[in-house]
Amino acid sequence: MTALTLSNVSKSFGTVEVLKNINIDVEEGEFVVFVGPSGCGKSTLLRTIAGLDDVSSGEVLIDNKKVNRTPPSKRGIAMVFQSYALYPHLNVRNNMTLALKQAKESKDVIEQRLAEASRMLSLEDYLDRYPSELSGGQRQRVAIGRAIVRHPKLFLFDEPLSNLDAALRMNTRLEIANLHQTLGATMIYVTHDQTEAMTLADKIVVLRDGRVEQVGSPMELYNNPANQFVAGFLGSPGMNFLPATLLQDGNPNTLGVRPEDLFFDDNGPLEITTQHVEHLGGDTNVIGTCQGQPITLRLFGQQAATVGAVARVSIAQDRSYFFSPDGSRIR
Ligand SMILES: Nc1ncnc2c1ncn2[C@@H]1O[C@H](COP(=O)(O)OP(=O)(O)OP(=O)(O)O)[C@@H](O)[C@H]1O
Ligand SMILES: [Mg+2]
Repeated sequence: MTALTLSNVSKSFGTVEVLKNINIDVEEGEFVVFVGPSGCGKSTLLRTIAGLDDVSSGEVLIDNKKVNRTPPSKRGIAMVFQSYALYPHLNVRNNMTLALKQAKESKDVIEQRLAEASRMLSLEDYLDRYPSELSGGQRQRVAIGRAIVRHPKLFLFDEPLSNLDAALRMNTRLEIANLHQTLGATMIYVTHDQTEAMTLADKIVVLRDGRVEQVGSPMELYNNPANQFVAGFLGSPGMNFLPATLLQDGNPNTLGVRPEDLFFDDNGPLEITTQHVEHLGGDTNVIGTCQGQPITLRLFGQQAATVGAVARVSIAQDRSYFFSPDGSRIR
């Protein structure tokens, strides 16, 4: 069943249109990630789903029912904000159960839901603490717990990990993936981080400047980007873009090739000058220039490379993309 449908959704603030004719379907149980650069409209889109913002035109349907006029509290959704938005004067227990009390749930239900959520999030030992007595990661888990206890039809996450350090971000990312498996709930997750999008999503929606650029599974988008923007946005290090004339293509097009699809080869068509070498342990990134354009090779394992060296490079067979000057994909 379709859990959420956005049909021709547009949204303007004054004269500025920030969402432009958005069409998205989210299936029940799906994990959908909205990804795109800062300011592209991700939070606004999430807020229109939650009902915190009205749409200017178009329809929002939850479980096939139009909810344009339904207030946030009646939409069956729970939203986790980037800022956590915990109540500082309430301890963890009361932060997590407040919404259930307001909804006049029975004491037994409240206790049972609290126990279930705090076990899932390893918060049992912190129930009597106040937010100021918690680490950033613990606060984030309370914010997620507050959503879980409500048993929503739809979870909305707005950049929930952006305040955490790298290690914690990775742990919490795995926790959210586990949570999705355990609960089987429908989740929509907003991020500007392509790694989060690639690792969490069943389906990624790439947004740019208020428009949907492409929708698909992480590997569909990675292997078959519709345009240069999507190609460049997903993948780290990002896709290399070079003038296609370097390959005697003749046309003023752009050649796209991923860093892992380049390799040193004495007979290769490209000549690069190495400027920098990143030894990551498991991989080696060689960063250089190719006829004045920046280029990155990602080599497997620990590779020796010399700064300043000039070498020839080949592209793995069938691993090049071509884009026209307007960014659309040619092949
Ligand atoms: N209340 C508002 N009034 C006017 N303009 C707004 C308002 N809220 C957002 N905008 C504008 O709408 C655009 C989209 O904002 P939004 O917050 O949805 O972006 P975002 O993709 O979530 O960005 P970020 O990754 O930085 O959080 C931005 O240009 C922003 O300035
Ligand atoms: Mg935002």
